[in-house]
Amino acid sequence: MPNAKKIGVGIADAGIGYTASDWCTGQDRGRSPKQIVEDSFKLQESSLNLPGKPPHRGIGLVSVNDFISGFEGTLRLCTDNVSAEIVLLMSAIPTFETDRLLLVPVSLADVASYQKYFVDYEVIRHLAAQVPWPYPVDGVAEYFKNVLLPPQGTGRWSWGIRLKSSPHEVIGCVDLWRKGEPENRGFWLGRKFWGAGYMTESVTPVMDYAFDCLGFEKLVFTNALGNLRSRRVKEKTGARLIEVRPASFVDPQYTQHEIWELAKPDWIAVRRKS
Ligand SMILES: CC(C)(COP(=O)(O)OP(=O)(O)OC[C@H]1O[C@@H](n2cnc3c(N)ncnc32)[C@H](O)[C@@H]1OP(=O)(O)O)[C@@H](O)C(=O)NCCC(=O)NCCS
Repeated sequence: MPNAKKIGVGIADAGIGYTASDWCTGQDRGRSPKQIVEDSFKLQESSLNLPGKPPHRGIGLVSVNDFISGFEGTLRLCTDNVSAEIVLLMSAIPTFETDRLLLVPVSLADVASYQKYFVDYEVIRHLAAQVPWPYPVDGVAEYFKNVLLPPQGTGRWSWGIRLKSSPHEVIGCVDLWRKGEPENRGFWLGRKFWGAGYMTESVTPVMDYAFDCLGFEKLVFTNALGNLRSRRVKEKTGARLIEVRPASFVDPQYTQHEIWELAKPDWIAVRRKS
């Protein structure tokens, strides 16, 4: 077990110069992100004071989420023997590779291809009524600048979906967010790519990341009652239908949404079978 002084050094090692993406893809000396933090915190009891969080006493796992979800700021670690202040700079999020796809964190360079496939009534009509229709000409650029990019890696994560066979353009998107509204995830795919299993393939690494790296114990999803494709993605990935409630969508024919939950043990069971 490292002594108290080493604990501070361990965290500094893991924080400074390493991005959350290094941690979460296990590129840091072959250790998993959880292992890295656990190694750093294998210690006598400590107290952690993170800005905006209640003080925490105990073995430092509460901090794993803060670290790995892209916490930026100063961490003050105090034990009986040492008080260390460590600057963490972590806002990167990982890129995922599946059999056919690359999921790359969105950037302003993606605006044009995002717009090409997203601004389509057949895609947008299934989305919540807050999404404007007709869609404004510069709507995607504004959405990137004001909604997607500022919290990227710190409470919200958005990946552009690319075909490995044509990686220059984004053909869809998966978003994850910490604060349930009530859902924690959204997705869409350009119409010509539907029905090939791409969204099921896309959400798989994202859910692994949510449960393994971001510390989610449960994810909540929703879809318009009647959006059978979206419903099917949830069914195929082990989510449980919880209830149906009134909700408004871009397409006024939709008047209710289905609320689903996926608990971490259910996702682990799905992954074991696959
Ligand atoms: C929902 C959406 C992302 C699904 O993407 P996708 O890549 O086509 O999804 P997948 O191929 O992984 O899975 C779709 C499933 O729906 C099934 N499906 C397709 N059309 C269907 C229909 N009319 N009725 C019932 N099921 C249907 C497919 O067969 C597939 O299931 P299977 O693998 O068991 O055969 C895509 O249709 C989309 O972007 N829709 C518009 C935006 C949207 O609805 N976003 C979600 C808001 S909650």
